[in-house]
Amino acid sequence: MRQICVVGVGYVGLITAAGFADLGNRVIALDISEKKIEGLKKGDMPIYEPGLEELVERNVKSGRLTFTTSYTEGLKGTEYVFIAVGTPSGVDGEADLQYVEAAARSVAENMSDELVIINKSTVPVGTGDWVAGIVKRHQKAAIPFSVVSCPEFLREGSAIFDFQNPHRTVLGSLDREAADKVAQLHLPLRAPIVITDLRTAEMIKYASNAFLATKISFINEIANICEALGADVTEVATGMGYDERIGHHFLSAGLGYGGSCFPKDVLALAHMAEEKGKHPQLLHAVMDINADRRPMAVERVKEMLGGDVKGKTIGMLGLAFKPNTDDMRDAPSIDIAKALIAAGAHVRGYDPVSMGVAAPLMPDVKMYDDPYSMAEGCDALMINTEWNEFKQLNRRQLQESMNQPVIFDGRNIYDPAEMKDLNFIYRGLGRGYNGAHTAEA
Ligand code: UGA
Repeated sequence: MRQICVVGVGYVGLITAAGFADLGNRVIALDISEKKIEGLKKGDMPIYEPGLEELVERNVKSGRLTFTTSYTEGLKGTEYVFIAVGTPSGVDGEADLQYVEAAARSVAENMSDELVIINKSTVPVGTGDWVAGIVKRHQKAAIPFSVVSCPEFLREGSAIFDFQNPHRTVLGSLDREAADKVAQLHLPLRAPIVITDLRTAEMIKYASNAFLATKISFINEIANICEALGADVTEVATGMGYDERIGHHFLSAGLGYGGSCFPKDVLALAHMAEEKGKHPQLLHAVMDINADRRPMAVERVKEMLGGDVKGKTIGMLGLAFKPNTDDMRDAPSIDIAKALIAAGAHVRGYDPVSMGVAAPLMPDVKMYDDPYSMAEGCDALMINTEWNEFKQLNRRQLQESMNQPVIFDGRNIYDPAEMKDLNFIYRGLGRGYNGAHTAEA
């Protein structure tokens, strides 16, 4: 049985730890937060992720997964240590590496055996070399070690599925033997393994996220053009996606990307490029298009309510940045609520799982326990997150309780024709044919 230590029990760390334990390894998950570790020992998850609680519970019961705050305990008998700590954005958009630095230092100070240090956190290109330098400087004795970059590609909301069914594993190291050892750990996942150098592996992560963000901004730009020309972006995306070179994924127009990854990673990549004198024009366009989506949504609602939202009651269906998560980091709903409140609206909110996290971030938004009571007396509803339960709402019931049947659908979950039949005043995004287009000679 291989022994692994995972440093950091945030999103990536906890899923990596539980995932590798489930593959039959002995895993010690380490975090400096006593509170998180104490909670985990009692079975309290620090994050919401479908299936995580069961996965952790199963592996704790089997004895393969344990938790600690002690590096000495975590590293004793360990061959592999994953660093999976946070890398938030610094003031200029550069990644803040203080947690990676602290983790590397503590690993160096407490290692007693030969170690492969694997970096999972998204870090600027060149960080692997920097980590190797930190470890060398802080070691108490010259114990051999290697650094391998193994970027994560998990999506929140489906992270466990993604861990168990990766499209690929990327490993970067200057030490081929160490990379091969880490490859062995990933073999049961049966995905292609790309072995390259450290910097290239680090770049693969940024380039992948930047490309996906580009697809989203691209389709949002197409949505704007569709509105002007009377086409339907959802059908345009379907029609485009059958071309295998394009694919169907990440072509949903909406309120733009949020969360803890794309905004931070596109910004960090642009920052790295600029530091080296490059002009990442495309990345700036991607960020600009994305930043426009939120004020645009607010303008739409204003237009739908006759140009002014002052004194109007607006209900937000969905607060999290995407479905199946309670993550509110850079969620469009935060900026949208702020702007509506600044314009004089009364804003209400409902989300199936994120309300506890959302409430302190939007203290002026009144939270409701269910969508129907929230809709009562509303002048408009906005769909901010495409939770499945919103697709199944009884719209007649909503309509009967609202002041006026206005719905702005920021995620295009409803069919405009059906909404018209139900007598809603309805607008999605990029669905220009829906009334805007009239047959012209
Ligand atoms: C993203 C990547 O998809 C993962 O591969 C990566 O590992 C992760 O970042 C990371 O770097 O840690 P995540 O942020 O969890 O994962 O969420 P996504 O499902 O990728 O969605 C990101 C944002 O794009 C969401 O705000 C979502 O609403 C938006 N989006 C996504 C669209 O607006 N349209 C789409 O078609 C797809």
